[in-house]
Amino acid sequence: MTDLPAVSILENDLSDLAARAGVIVVFATPDGKLDQGARKVNSLTKKSLARLIESEAFEKAKEGDALPMSYPVGVAATKIVVVKMGRRPSAEVARKAGASVAKARGTDDALILGGSIGRMADVAYGCALRGYTFTPHKTGDQDAQGAIDVMVTQVEEVQAATDVMMAIAQGVVFTRDLTNEPANVLTTTEFANRLAEMESIGLTVEVLEEDALEELGMGSLLCVGLGSASPSKVVVMQWNGGGDEAPFALVGKGVVFDTGGISLKPAGGMEDMTMDMGGAGVVSGVMKTLALRKAKANVVGLVGLVENMPSDRATRPGDVVTSMKGDTIEVINTDAEGRLVLADVLWYAQERFKPTGVINLATLTGAIIIGLGHENAGVFSNDDQLCNRFLKAAGAEGEGAWRMPMGAAYDAKLKSRIADMKNVGGRDAGSITAAQFLQRFIKDDMPWIHLDIAGVASVKAETALAPAGATGWGVMALNRLIADTYEAE
Ligand code: BES
Ligand code: MN
Ligand code: ZN
Repeated sequence: MTDLPAVSILENDLSDLAARAGVIVVFATPDGKLDQGARKVNSLTKKSLARLIESEAFEKAKEGDALPMSYPVGVAATKIVVVKMGRRPSAEVARKAGASVAKARGTDDALILGGSIGRMADVAYGCALRGYTFTPHKTGDQDAQGAIDVMVTQVEEVQAATDVMMAIAQGVVFTRDLTNEPANVLTTTEFANRLAEMESIGLTVEVLEEDALEELGMGSLLCVGLGSASPSKVVVMQWNGGGDEAPFALVGKGVVFDTGGISLKPAGGMEDMTMDMGGAGVVSGVMKTLALRKAKANVVGLVGLVENMPSDRATRPGDVVTSMKGDTIEVINTDAEGRLVLADVLWYAQERFKPTGVINLATLTGAIIIGLGHENAGVFSNDDQLCNRFLKAAGAEGEGAWRMPMGAAYDAKLKSRIADMKNVGGRDAGSITAAQFLQRFIKDDMPWIHLDIAGVASVKAETALAPAGATGWGVMALNRLIADTYEAE
């Protein structure tokens, strides 16, 4: 797994600043006031910072932007990075500042002179997350990461906040690694093995193999993997940090590669379907974070791991399968496979765990990208309270999420001539009919959200806290939802 840079929170000590190697990060308020650390650097460097804050570049910079100065006189550091930021920044600005620092420092060691400025944990968090790169398949020297030292006056307080934030960052990076990984490496078996390793941090992890899934009657999930050499699996991860109350359930689509099956996708861009396990990746990342920060909540994460391949054994269009629930499904299009996987995992999650609510995540439809682009995930829910809580958590974490409608008229599109339903509802409202399909496997009165993350799980351009590629979208929002809703005293 990609390691995060080491972050150390240290006592404020400006005595050896001149000899410090690497990058030194200082802060200037938007109205040009230098913090204590910045004043010291200013005097060491013959007032170069004073020049900088008088400049047009500083004037034009936004809060959270960084202005790097290379090879300054008077210090050993190769770069001074001046961050424009107020003394009491919002979490968003502080994380953006951290991201700016990540870009300015590259893989050099950084010393951040935080002094008594607020939200230094968020600065370190933004720096760690934006500094992520996915390098396991690049040959050459990969070790250089560089350490992040943060000097502050309130060491204990900032350390405690940093510990929590780094647990979240570990979850995000775990999700990104899984989602970025190519499908010849991240097979269903490899995925399950990586999840089983989380036993070491206190999760209970079970891997249900094909015979067990057959026993359970998961004909819907199993029909997706029939064409693949990789065995289908369901992995159950339990975190019991709460009392004896029923858990909350997270369910993820884990299609390690989606060729479309017999309803084969076109060649152009098919390589992007390595990220079709993104929903399972987010569930896994959240479970990792909950365990690392020892969350006081009971949460169970379930992922359906399959590969959708064409072969002589693959499911054909027109085949009818029977779900664990007992409902029969006419498979019109083998490329609408995610919903077939989720149908059985959702049902199993409710039958076995009687959860207080369920949230599923899936890179489910191309149509959600047409509707919302890469800025927002589609949010579908049968429960206004849970939905609003989620939207609030996502908003607070800067993870775009937009509620979509549902209703009986959409559901009617799933009527089949020969089975209880078909797996596609036609081109119109493709994301909504997919959500309606899932809702058929949600019990009455079960609070439920379906998150269609096809547009946000992996993107071609960098985002605030991630380079191009897997984003880890949703780990922060779900972690916050759990913290705010299920851990509140
Ligand atoms: N995994 C795809 C959806 C997808 C598309 C994810 C683009 C990420 C980026 C899903 O399994 C799929 O193929 N959906 C079909 C459904 C259709 C056949 C009803 C789609 O969106 O075209
Ligand atoms: Mn598909
Ligand atoms: Zn898919």
